[in-house]
Formats: sequence, C-alpha cells, structure tokens
Amino acid sequence: MKLIVTKNYEELSKIAAEEFAKVVIEKPTAVLGLATGGSPIGMYKELIAKCENKELDFSKCTSINLDEYIGLNPEHEQSYRNFMNTNLFNHINIDKTKTFVPNGLAKNLEEECKNYDNKIEELGGIDVQLLGIGNNGHIAFNEPGDELSAGTHIISLTESTIEANARFFDSIDEVPRKALTMGLGGIMKAKKIILIASGEGKAEAIKGLFSGKITTDNPATMLQMHRDVVVVVDEAAAKLIK
Ligand code: PGA
Repeated sequence: MKLIVTKNYEELSKIAAEEFAKVVIEKPTAVLGLATGGSPIGMYKELIAKCENKELDFSKCTSINLDEYIGLNPEHEQSYRNFMNTNLFNHINIDKTKTFVPNGLAKNLEEECKNYDNKIEELGGIDVQLLGIGNNGHIAFNEPGDELSAGTHIISLTESTIEANARFFDSIDEVPRKALTMGLGGIMKAKKIILIASGEGKAEAIKGLFSGKITTDNPATMLQMHRDVVVVVDEAAAKLIK
C-alpha cells in the first residue's frame, strides 16, 4: 500500500486527482469506479478543471458508482445519482448513458444487485476505484459486522453512518436506513484503488489500514490484501498511523 500524507484537504484533492488522472490518460476507455460523500468533492473539482483545460478526456470512459440509498428518487437532492451529476458528470465530457449508479428504487432489489455485478463483469472490471472511508471503517456501504459480503447487496446502515450522513439532510430522520452497495469482492477486483480521507474523525479507521491485521470490524482493513492501493490522507487523518 502506498501512503501519501498531505498537509490539508486541498493538497489531498490535487494529489488524488493526479493519481486518478494517470489512469484516464493511460487508458482513455477506462472504467472508473466512483464514490460520493464529502471527501471526493475537492478531487472532482480538480478533475473538472483538468477536463476544461483539455488535460483529460472522459468521452470514452464508463463509470460505475459504489452505492445508492434505497428509496430515494434519482432526482432527490441527496441521491447519489444526483450527487454525481451535480458534482462531476454535468461538468465533464463523459457520456451520461455510460455512467452507472445502483437504482435504489428498483422493484426487485435483489435482481438489481445481481444485474449490477453482471454490469461490472460486462464492462471488463473496474480500472480505478476511488474510495472514501467511514469513521467506522466502512468502504462503500460495507458496514462493520460479523461478516462482509462479496457481491452487491442490500445493507442496513449503522447508527454511526446515519449520524455521519445526517449533515447532508434537513434532519436525521430523513436519512434512509438502507442502501444498495457494491460488495468487498467488487471493490477488491478493481485493478487500482485510490482511498482518500481527511480529518481527525477518520484517523482510527485509517490506523487499521496499516495495522497488518484484517478484521470485519474495520472493512477497509481488507484493502491490505490488494496489490495496488494508494492511500491519500491529510495529516489529521494520518495522525494515528504508527
Ligand atoms: P465522507 O464519507 O467522504 O462524507 O466523509 C465517506 C464514506 O462514508 O465513505
């Protein structure tokens, strides 16, 4: 695992965007695994700037997102489809018909999960997967627990995640309690992984990534088994790494 510690969020966003851009430049048809949340917003701004000044061309890329809340309409302000459109897709030259986010309104959610995994296979796998990390070590919405799932699945969000995400909603009661999420298998099959984290709240989870131990209590620890992971964190998030 390659660790890059940055001074602050701004530098983190720039470096993560550089790492991500390398893949798109090397492979213009890359399949991009994308993430939502507060962490990637700065990096997405950097990618938009690179696209505007013609350093990057997304016209042949496909994207596939990690997760979506169950029950939110794609137009809902807090749906992850809307997040992606607003924070990235509307501002770069990607073909929106080639951007995939799980459908949290699917009539048959089990079927939606199966189809999503088939879609990843069909696309030939993910070339670069961007990940944030929860305060509790979740990646995508793979929450800590007794066991983890390999494939895309339905997950009940933990109280810690509901509390963390309440900042995006008018009240905590509006945060959906369930989501569809890519599983650890889908994530681990990505050719390259870039994980970003900022702030002290992430320090404990990040420490686990460098502990040499793998535990379902911190799902991100699984990434230690992957051959090509770049972890970009600011000093606050890195502060407990030994
Ligand atoms: P955040 O979320 O980027 O909003 O902190 C990360 C995550 O929950 O994976």
